[in-house]
Amino acid sequence: MSTVSTDPNRVLVFDTTLRDGEQSPGASMNLAEKVEVARTLDALGVDVIEAGFAIASPDDFNAIQAVAKEVQRSRVCSLARSLKGDIDRAAAAVQPAGARGRVHVFLATSAIHRTFKLNKAKDEIVKQAREAVAYAAGLCADVEFSPEDASRTEPEFLAEVVQAVIEAGARTVNIPDTVGYAYPSDYADLITYLKAHVANIDRAVISVHCHNDLGLAVANSLAAVRAGARQIECTINGIGERAGNAALEEVVMAMRVRKDQFAGITTGIESQRLYAASRLVQSITGLPLQRNKAIVGDNAFAHESGIHQHGVLKNPECYEIMTPASVGVPATTMVLGKHSGKAAVEKRLGSLGVTVQEADMARLMEAFKTLADKKKEVYDGDLIALVEEVVRGTTLSMWTLDYLHTSAGTGAVATATVRLRKGDTVVTDAATGDGPVDAVVQSLNRICQVDGTIEDYRLRAVTRGGDAQGEVSIRARIADRTVGGKGLSTDIVQASAQAYLDAINRAQAMVAKLNYQTAPQ
Ligand code: KIV
Ligand code: ZN
Repeated sequence: MSTVSTDPNRVLVFDTTLRDGEQSPGASMNLAEKVEVARTLDALGVDVIEAGFAIASPDDFNAIQAVAKEVQRSRVCSLARSLKGDIDRAAAAVQPAGARGRVHVFLATSAIHRTFKLNKAKDEIVKQAREAVAYAAGLCADVEFSPEDASRTEPEFLAEVVQAVIEAGARTVNIPDTVGYAYPSDYADLITYLKAHVANIDRAVISVHCHNDLGLAVANSLAAVRAGARQIECTINGIGERAGNAALEEVVMAMRVRKDQFAGITTGIESQRLYAASRLVQSITGLPLQRNKAIVGDNAFAHESGIHQHGVLKNPECYEIMTPASVGVPATTMVLGKHSGKAAVEKRLGSLGVTVQEADMARLMEAFKTLADKKKEVYDGDLIALVEEVVRGTTLSMWTLDYLHTSAGTGAVATATVRLRKGDTVVTDAATGDGPVDAVVQSLNRICQVDGTIEDYRLRAVTRGGDAQGEVSIRARIADRTVGGKGLSTDIVQASAQAYLDAINRAQAMVAKLNYQTAPQ
């Protein structure tokens, strides 16, 4: 397989949720979670999965390797600085992907980075970039190069670097807008300039990688495609360093819906899987979306005003430029109940674009039956939320909630009694608090021996009705770390307890990872 697509209209989708996305504060994922996200991206049809930065830690290396073993269709990539040690690790990590492995080498090129970060002259930068790419090409056939902070680099110098790395063997040249400073027309002009001034540019795919500091990441990526870029680097839900990266679902749907602006352009994305991928990433990272998020937010297809509702009922196209089904937003119709079996659940999941591993299916059915006993009607949204819960449950099963009882009321002191299980250890404790959720937090702190607080708390009803499942997303401060957590239940105090326990498990996993990294090897 060649990355230089023979179809001039095919835009490659390079997903960096597992690398740049994981650089979002509090978004770290463990190995099993990364593999789960990678499977989802593979099924979604992304062309390249950037699975991590191999030299960064043994955990990163292992996760890239695991993704490279698991993924069936997508290329698997590791980031590397322009240093031999980094490149060796990156090439080794992607090796299980065989010919689908990619090494992504980067080096900053802008004046400000050259002067203050690297303390290197232009000719030293060109030399280091060329040598790094040549070295990488000796280890891996598919090499991408990124001149970091490209959009703030002098265009003539950028063209010189790009030409040198293509000569050295880079098949993809990425033009990152590292600090989200670019403006769509300028950024498009930069791509046009490179096409005109880099003699060997037709030997590489031009890629774009836009950050969202000014809210322009998607607009810049799209402008670059119109100017001739044929790879977009993006993340699910737009997560990433600082304000994030271009959102995959937005760039893909913009090119699909606005065919008039992107005549003939195609991607390999199966768009009906976008919603499930978005939900999975929210759930695993603990980073919830704002309700009005384009394409996959709760309100993206909600029509509130009477005039809009009337129009949509007459003809959805009055107010909808794409159908909810085209991005996999589940219908709110009741589809399953307590008499539904595995085959029906699997069929429904398939039509929602959700893949569940056979090993997880028994646990999913158990959770489904429990829910169906509590709720007469199990909606698509409930089902997707359950899948997330089961996936997370298998990957972060440190402490699990065994029993919870709270009592609270006006004038009464709120108390919570909690029993937790961790392997063979079972611990019960009780505490009081300023309300039932606080009492639960205090009990969990005592049992898990942590000093933690909830900094941000959000509750969302997964579906409609009084018996809807409540999904609690929190941001907690535990052991000097900011971590996310999620919980799901028809009882919101229980959902809160699960969310806080999820955060404790994540914090403890992070500490374990740190201890491993600092231990002598
Ligand atoms: O934003 C950036 O410049 C990056 C590079 C490493 C591609 O993430
Ligand atoms: Zn980036």
